[in-house]
Amino acid sequence: MIVAIDGPSGSGKSSVSRAVATALGVGFLDTGAMYRALTWWCLDSGIDLDDRDAVAQAATRMPLEQGYDPDAPTVAVAGRDITAEIRTTEVSTRVSAVATNVLVRPVLQQRQREAMAAIAAETGGVVAEGRDITTVVAPDADVRILLTASEEARLRRRSAELHGTTDDAAVEATRDQIVRRDREDSTVSQFTVAADGVVTVDTSDLDFDGSVAAVLAVVRRAT
Ligand code: C5P
Repeated sequence: MIVAIDGPSGSGKSSVSRAVATALGVGFLDTGAMYRALTWWCLDSGIDLDDRDAVAQAATRMPLEQGYDPDAPTVAVAGRDITAEIRTTEVSTRVSAVATNVLVRPVLQQRQREAMAAIAAETGGVVAEGRDITTVVAPDADVRILLTASEEARLRRRSAELHGTTDDAAVEATRDQIVRRDREDSTVSQFTVAADGVVTVDTSDLDFDGSVAAVLAVVRRAT
């Protein structure tokens, strides 16, 4: 069972995908974590993010290990656990420069296909989430879902996550980060409108449990 889930920042993609993987008893792959890990590795090893060839070579060489347990997904590069480091503001604000590098994308997309196959072989399936999983990485997945939410709902959620509050100042600070990132990301992947055969799940008016239930309902209908 291969489940592909795409969506913008703050749609609940990551947490909902993890809960869905747990409910289905299969492994989980966060593809955004790969772009983040590559960003972290380039910054850590002094590779200029504007040097497209050097970053693409790093994408091929990066000794990446991702733990697929949906209850505790981990990311390590060269044996160093960077699960927390890849979530820093510095990585979040610079990851789009790596993700919009057209030499990088095919390398990581291929690594994502290999990771999905390896996880599915181990656990009987995989829930993979990102921006282009339903369209480019796994267009033949058994279930393909676009998880969306209104910009307002997404900003509120991210603001609560990043700043612990949804007051106006926090929402504005969040807007700059996520709206800009989604705008840059959408120049290379289509994740705002569902592609043919992709089911849209709008979580604007759903809480977390409701979002998980809505996705599981789509999975059950399709399988
Ligand atoms: O999902 P997350 O916010 O962790 O993704 C981090 C970044 O990785 C995105 O902003 C985007 O630039 C990139 N990404 C991508 N394609 C994917 C997943 C993530 O370009 N499939």
